Amino acid sequence: MKEIFARGTYVARRAKLRTAMGKGLGLFLGNSESPMNYADNTYNFRQDSTFLYFFGLRKPNLAAVVDFESGDEWLFGDDADIDDVVWTGPLPSVADFAATCGVAHSEPMAGLAKLLSELMGKGRKIHYLPPYRTDTMLWLSTLLDEKISDVGHKCSLELIKAVIDLRAVKSDEEIAEIERACAIGYEMHTAAMRLAKTADNEQYIHSVVDSIPLKYGGTTSFTTILSQNGQTLHNHSHNLPITNGRMLLVDAGAETPMGYASDFTRTFPVNGKFTQKQKDIYQIVLDANDRALELARPGVTYQSVHLECCKTIASGLKALGLMRGNVDEAVAAGAHALFLPHGLGHMMGLDVHDMENLGQIYVGYNNETRPIEQFGTSSLRMGRKLEPGFVVTDEPGIYFIPELVANWRRDRLHEQFINYAEVDKYLDFGGIRIEDDLLITADGARRLGEKRIPATIAEVEEEMTKTFTL
Ligand code: GLY
Ligand code: MN
Repeated sequence: MKEIFARGTYVARRAKLRTAMGKGLGLFLGNSESPMNYADNTYNFRQDSTFLYFFGLRKPNLAAVVDFESGDEWLFGDDADIDDVVWTGPLPSVADFAATCGVAHSEPMAGLAKLLSELMGKGRKIHYLPPYRTDTMLWLSTLLDEKISDVGHKCSLELIKAVIDLRAVKSDEEIAEIERACAIGYEMHTAAMRLAKTADNEQYIHSVVDSIPLKYGGTTSFTTILSQNGQTLHNHSHNLPITNGRMLLVDAGAETPMGYASDFTRTFPVNGKFTQKQKDIYQIVLDANDRALELARPGVTYQSVHLECCKTIASGLKALGLMRGNVDEAVAAGAHALFLPHGLGHMMGLDVHDMENLGQIYVGYNNETRPIEQFGTSSLRMGRKLEPGFVVTDEPGIYFIPELVANWRRDRLHEQFINYAEVDKYLDFGGIRIEDDLLITADGARRLGEKRIPATIAEVEEEMTKTFTL
């Protein structure tokens, strides 16, 4: 699979950033290797996504400076010497890397501190993005001669906003890359469905699901959630035996070699056949997922789409006798959040939660659309108006979280909207989430991925009759 776009893509992205910024300079620090338990035993290297967006280079220990006024650009890094090469094999030089992404000047890393001190001496403003790794904070602190406690809040809001404006709207070549991640996601999820009936334990299914992106030179786009305890939203343990009668929730996605993500969730009965009780809840979640696709289009806020999906959930639960009263009033009061304590979705791109490191308040909100500070809806990462080219996830769910139910009942919360006696019958039910990835188009939205991962009850049951082959 492709590992980098053509040089012109990166040149054009930086040119747009220069136009947006106009003044000052941008300092972009790439990521370095991160030790797991000692320096030479590192986590898989992941480049910073903004560095990938503007330079496309996946090598550790690179930095770049862009002069937004003159257009001068520098790439800094140290060439591998023979001691490195015996361990790593031959590597391109920093000059080669610079040429790959169309940066004119390349220099050893020592030149970065020198250049920055010259520029700061001339009173030039250095813009940088908020650091999220401690080693980057230390590096910034040294380079900019700032206290480590100051480097976080001295980052540039202007640069944050300019980068978000660019990265939020996906180009056709980015969409094609996300579609590739979705195709791998399709394979991951159908593998889980095909394996569930014969697997003894969650770990085995997990091992197969996580291995699939590796076949394509990629990786998972986040730590896979795969559990029969689907009511625990980010459940990272996969140590249970497969138990007849339970459902398995699988929330997993792929990252392509270029760094683009997919993110899907499916929930299915491990024995391949939904009970009536499972069907009832599943269908409500599927209706909410479909409702988001119907409503999402340019000019509509994703916050309003989230709230409409909450109404679909509340009215479905009312029909089953779990909720009661006026659905609009129940959702306005936040009563549905007992069952859906998270948001409908987030942006997705080079990060699975795209640009979350730049500040969710800037990625998902603006002056026009502010977060709603109410349990459940306060977890909505993406609230603002949709625009063509945005990619968002659509991931409603219904969960029966015994600890949360016990808390709400103790505090007699929303008794006029929740039938606690009926909820008691579902305390061992688990949770269902159904997640697809949406592209906002000129006049609506479409699901990403050539084929939708089996989603209806009939489609899921049919998929589970198939045999898994590697
Ligand atoms: N798929 C995990 C998440 O969206 O948080
Ligand atoms: Mn997601």
